[in-house]
Amino acid sequence: MAMKRGMKHTLIVVFLSLIVFFLLGILVELALMEPKETGYPYITSHIQRTGWLIKPLGARRAVFTKSVRQQIVSEMKAENIKEFLRDFTRTPHLAGTERNLELAERIRSQWKEFGLDKVELVHYDVLLSYPNESNPNYISIIDQHGNEMFNTSLFETPPEGYENFTDIVPPYNAFSAQGDPEGDLVYVNYARTEDFFFLERNMSINCTGKIVIARYGKIFRGNKVKNAMLFGARGIILFSDPADYCAPGVEPYPDGWNLPAGAAQRGNVLNLNGAGDPLTPGYPAKEFTYRYEPDEGVGLPSIPVHPIGYSDAEQILSLMGGPSPPNSWKGNLNISYNIGPGFQSNVSTRKIRMHVHSNNQVTRIYDVIGTIRGAVEPDRYIILGGHRDSWVFGGIDPTTGAAVLQEIARSFGKKVKEGWRPRRTIIFASWDAEEFGLLGSTEWAEENAKILQERGVAYINSDSSIEGNYTLRVDCTPLMYRLVYNLTKQIVSPDEGFEDKSLYESWLEKDPSTGKPDLPRINKLGSGSDFEAYFQRLGIASGRARYTKNRKTDKYSSYPMYHTIYETFELVDRFYDPTFKKQLSVAQLRGSLVYEIADSVVIPFNVYDYGMELKNYAGSIYKLAKTQEEQMDAYNVSFDPLFSAVRNFAKAAIGLHQRIENVDYNDPLAVRILNDQLMFAERAFIDPLGLPGRPFYRHIIFAPSSHNKYAGESFPGIYDALFDIENKGDQRKAWEEVKRQISIAAFNVQAAAETLREVS
Ligand SMILES: *[C@@H]1O[C@H](CO)[C@@H](O)[C@H](O)[C@H]1NC(C)=O
Ligand SMILES: *[C@@H]1O[C@H](CO)[C@@H](O)[C@H](O)[C@H]1NC(C)=O
Ligand SMILES: *[C@@H]1O[C@H](CO)[C@@H](O)[C@H](O)[C@H]1NC(C)=O
Ligand SMILES: *[C@@H]1O[C@H](CO)[C@@H](O)[C@H](O)[C@H]1NC(C)=O
Ligand SMILES: *[C@@H]1O[C@H](CO)[C@@H](O)[C@H](O)[C@H]1NC(C)=O
Ligand SMILES: *[C@@H]1O[C@H](CO)[C@@H](O)[C@H](O)[C@H]1NC(C)=O
Ligand SMILES: *[C@@H]1O[C@H](CO)[C@@H](O)[C@H](O)[C@H]1NC(C)=O
Ligand SMILES: *[C@@H]1O[C@H](CO)[C@@H](O)[C@H](O)[C@H]1NC(C)=O
Ligand SMILES: *[C@@H]1O[C@H](CO)[C@@H](O)[C@H](O)[C@H]1NC(C)=O
Ligand SMILES: *[C@@H]1O[C@H](CO)[C@@H](O)[C@H](O)[C@H]1NC(C)=O
Ligand SMILES: [Zn+2]
Repeated sequence: MAMKRGMKHTLIVVFLSLIVFFLLGILVELALMEPKETGYPYITSHIQRTGWLIKPLGARRAVFTKSVRQQIVSEMKAENIKEFLRDFTRTPHLAGTERNLELAERIRSQWKEFGLDKVELVHYDVLLSYPNESNPNYISIIDQHGNEMFNTSLFETPPEGYENFTDIVPPYNAFSAQGDPEGDLVYVNYARTEDFFFLERNMSINCTGKIVIARYGKIFRGNKVKNAMLFGARGIILFSDPADYCAPGVEPYPDGWNLPAGAAQRGNVLNLNGAGDPLTPGYPAKEFTYRYEPDEGVGLPSIPVHPIGYSDAEQILSLMGGPSPPNSWKGNLNISYNIGPGFQSNVSTRKIRMHVHSNNQVTRIYDVIGTIRGAVEPDRYIILGGHRDSWVFGGIDPTTGAAVLQEIARSFGKKVKEGWRPRRTIIFASWDAEEFGLLGSTEWAEENAKILQERGVAYINSDSSIEGNYTLRVDCTPLMYRLVYNLTKQIVSPDEGFEDKSLYESWLEKDPSTGKPDLPRINKLGSGSDFEAYFQRLGIASGRARYTKNRKTDKYSSYPMYHTIYETFELVDRFYDPTFKKQLSVAQLRGSLVYEIADSVVIPFNVYDYGMELKNYAGSIYKLAKTQEEQMDAYNVSFDPLFSAVRNFAKAAIGLHQRIENVDYNDPLAVRILNDQLMFAERAFIDPLGLPGRPFYRHIIFAPSSHNKYAGESFPGIYDALFDIENKGDQRKAWEEVKRQISIAAFNVQAAAETLREVS
């Protein structure tokens, strides 16, 4: 009886509190409504407005959380992003230099001023690579006596206003081997696996002992170098063809945003496969860490590599002899693109000589790590990280991202100063030495691996926020699809012609998915930026978002000025985002993702969407295998276990989401149990043994493609086992490996499904 009366009492109190909270909620919401003219207010959807009427408890939460997000997001200003970009791009910020340390210290003091709880510099001593200042890198055409009749240029002409810098690193490929190889040239198109196959199989051209010349584009440059080594080349020259780095009808910089003829793309040519510092794979590069000898480092190329611009490339390629190539191999220079080997008969005594004298040296780098401690679950981390180091001024890469990171940190800091705290801990990171192989982010992940695998909820990347001005581009774990769609519906589109529309609407209209045309496209995560160690090695749910070009019409590769001296503040301010509205939208999305994952009571991940994607990926890999149907039958290759595991995963996901629907928000332990299942859902796809030959790529569902680090591949173990399988000598052995990989994938998916089930 007494208990019953007590319960009645409690019920009345709960009911009254509900009404009070409900009214308070409305008041709070009204109070926090932003007048439309003050910037970029949220579009509040009908569902969101009415959602809390149906679920009163969720209502209080929804109204309260939406309001904090609204405040954080409306605090962000395009003008501030512009100022940060202006400020951070005044000088070069090459990793390992004094200037980049100074910038780290500035960012540390700014983050402290903004109101973050704790900010520190964390250093590592990693292998970097710089040209020798007194012994420059270049390529020559030599005559039969060895005289250098033509030399490629040693530097890019600085843009106006940047003439007096003494610390601009000339174009080079970091970690190139040293050497002065001489020989005949072979033109290898993009130096993709299929390009070398074509040369060997269709043209019977043998690259062994040759110097190859490849155009930049399509794949990561490190894969080009790896392929050149595999096919026996003694050196590789990389050039930017106008077909890949100029858009039709656009002027070269500074009159437009096309690549000038003398510009060349810098970049590292490592094949690290996720190792981080080449000398300390798996472990943080601290003072006490064992280091391999510099010549034993992971992923270092064994041949010289050097990048050149298209005026120099034209001089060299115009002399080429040998067969003419298929049309798909022809760029936009006024030459025949003959393949070689060697030059035309009248100049056949001329050869190519490379000069590469860059040095690898262990150098100190600095990450800036800032924290806002979580109020309720301080042991759960959401990381927002992006790099700070740049090849030269970093106008787009990375500073359009670093400026956005800065504005997000400022907006969160402002709320903290007002006394607010997120439910979970937020970590802001300004990484160093990304350009040298994602080194700062990977070393920090290595140093904190044990903690991160226990406590890491999500990683959001903040590299370049624009690479074009057309529409949004998102690559993320399927866990975040719904969250990304929801949040973009509440951010105003920055696009012309989409006034009063949401970012979601302009994105959907401009880039619908291929399979699901009623949803905007979201891509798989590959690599090429600092999320790699967090996602591919540690299995922390990750995502990245930026503005991009029109994938249908813009055929150029990346953005033309990528990694050249012409990536300046003016490039962004004049041609890419004069209003800084696109960068603001990206800041709003990245910030909203961080906010929602950090502050929602239940982590806003959707495991069912993962199940649906697994189904798609399993279907695709099955279809690929089916092109070899006879062999599949002959060797008894079955995908049934994989399909069955995927079905079990989807079923378990439905169960988990039902339990989330019904969970009592006042039972912290029940909520925490579900949140742990959500947090560990991504981690469940990590195989501690890693993928074959790639111990630091441990995610069984996704990996950077073995043929292009930038791209994501699904079921990479099976994909690689199937790759070019028809040309493998021992067919039985090759198909046994396919079966082994299917079994590993099926086991991991099934094991992941088990983690989603109700704990009994
Ligand atoms: C740079 O080149 C000069 C001239 O060839 C040479 O004397 C010097 O040792 C080189 N520096 C390094 C660090 O290798
Ligand atoms: C190329 O550079 C070498 C070394 O500096 C020099 O000897 C040669 O004359 C140069 N050739 C031309 C055409 O400038
Ligand atoms: C570069 O230095 C020259 C000579 O000192 C000076 O006249 C010029 O104004 C400087 N240019 C810039 C952009 O600072
Ligand atoms: C190369 O040869 C293969 C086999 O003969 C053929 O299928 C393929 O189309 C050829 N590739 C090109 C680009 O001509
Ligand atoms: C290419 O040439 C090298 C050395 O001349 C030889 O060892 C190799 O077998 C050749 N490759 C092919 C595919 O013929
Ligand atoms: C292309 O080169 C040829 C000869 O090398 C020349 O006659 C022609 O004018 C050039 N075309 C263009 C568009 O420059
Ligand atoms: C070599 O021959 C090609 C065409 O056969 C011609 O365009 C070129 O000018 C010649 N080069 C030299 C150095 O004579
Ligand atoms: C997305 O929005 C819908 C409708 O408002 C809501 O039911 C769902 O929980 C939201 N999902 C996430 C992940 O925020
Ligand atoms: C920006 O957008 C305009 C209008 O669509 C387009 O013409 C221009 O090429 C874009 N600029 C860049 C740098 O992509
Ligand atoms: C394939 O499976 C069938 C039935 O399980 C079995 O009879 C046959 O021997 C197997 N063939 C191979 C090559 O393993
Ligand atoms: Zn970058």
